[in-house]
Amino acid sequence: MAVIQVSAGGGKGYDVTVERGSLNRCGELLAPLFPGSKIAVITDTNVARVYLEDVQSSLEQAGFETCSYAFAAGEKSKNLSTLSNILEFLADSGLTRTDAIVALGGGVVGDIAGFAAGCYLRGIKYAQIPTTLLAFVDSAVGGKTAVDLRAGKNLAGLFNPPSAVVADPGCLDTLSDEILSDGAAEAVKTGILDGEVLFSLVEKGEIRQNAEKIIELCILYKAKIVGMDEFERGLRKLLNLGHTVGHAIEKLSGYKIPHGQSVAMGIGVITRAAVRLGMCPHSDCARIISALSACGLPTETFYGASELAGASLADKKRSGSTITLVMPRAIGNCELLDIPVSDLQGIIEKGLCPMEE
Ligand code: GLY
Repeated sequence: MAVIQVSAGGGKGYDVTVERGSLNRCGELLAPLFPGSKIAVITDTNVARVYLEDVQSSLEQAGFETCSYAFAAGEKSKNLSTLSNILEFLADSGLTRTDAIVALGGGVVGDIAGFAAGCYLRGIKYAQIPTTLLAFVDSAVGGKTAVDLRAGKNLAGLFNPPSAVVADPGCLDTLSDEILSDGAAEAVKTGILDGEVLFSLVEKGEIRQNAEKIIELCILYKAKIVGMDEFERGLRKLLNLGHTVGHAIEKLSGYKIPHGQSVAMGIGVITRAAVRLGMCPHSDCARIISALSACGLPTETFYGASELAGASLADKKRSGSTITLVMPRAIGNCELLDIPVSDLQGIIEKGLCPMEE
């Protein structure tokens, strides 16, 4: 078991408990944080079938009154209409300011339930119980919450740290290889940022075998970055490695290409571009592309540079006429590069052709 502290909200932080079996004792873990509260468990239809009963029963055994709301699984649900339905549900269920939300699920559930917690009655407490690798290694930690708008991904949201994250790696046992692989993109991303120890754990694609260590190292890295830059004024932007092109691919595909696959393609594009700009050795690029492939992820996209650059223009990483890219210089060394928006298409173009061996 590991308990990792994340500092947030100007001093008061929260614990991320990484422990097999913790989902079944979430009531006990959350009881001291939400005393006397009613808890609304927000989840999706897929996760509800597997875990909702266990979570509600643990919460009820710990003395909580509970209610639950499950929306249709998938990125297509991460919109203002689902958010509105959740808020109406919270009001109809009579949740008050001293009550709380549990976000039970993957990245979509965590983002939307965290957003609902941040704006219902101007803010009530919530906890994250992630159930996918992507949520364990990235989205459940750090307090970013959002929904997508027509113009792009995550364009409405709040920084809203949870009161706790209960991460049970046993949940990975029920994940399909496809969903696991999707989450591996964020683990490889963190390995590229953090360095050799984590990268070598993900490099061969043996994610299930190394899952607990990978989850722990990813959370430790993210906790360190978020502790230094909770509101993404600088350093935290590094966590967006591969995401400018990745978000553009998600949007262009109508969210049919999942987040992890899109980010993997985005990492592939930006890494090849970094090599061609003389910023990254070919050997590091080859390891990165091969790690993504070993995890079953795509590293090339059929979209063209002009449509990718066009779709990136609404991205949050743009500020006026500049956009910040995360450029890999080597495994364990990435840097932020502010470029004029007008240069984006040319840089993406450099990353589209596969590397010659
Ligand atoms: N997913 C990137 C971040 O939390 O900053």
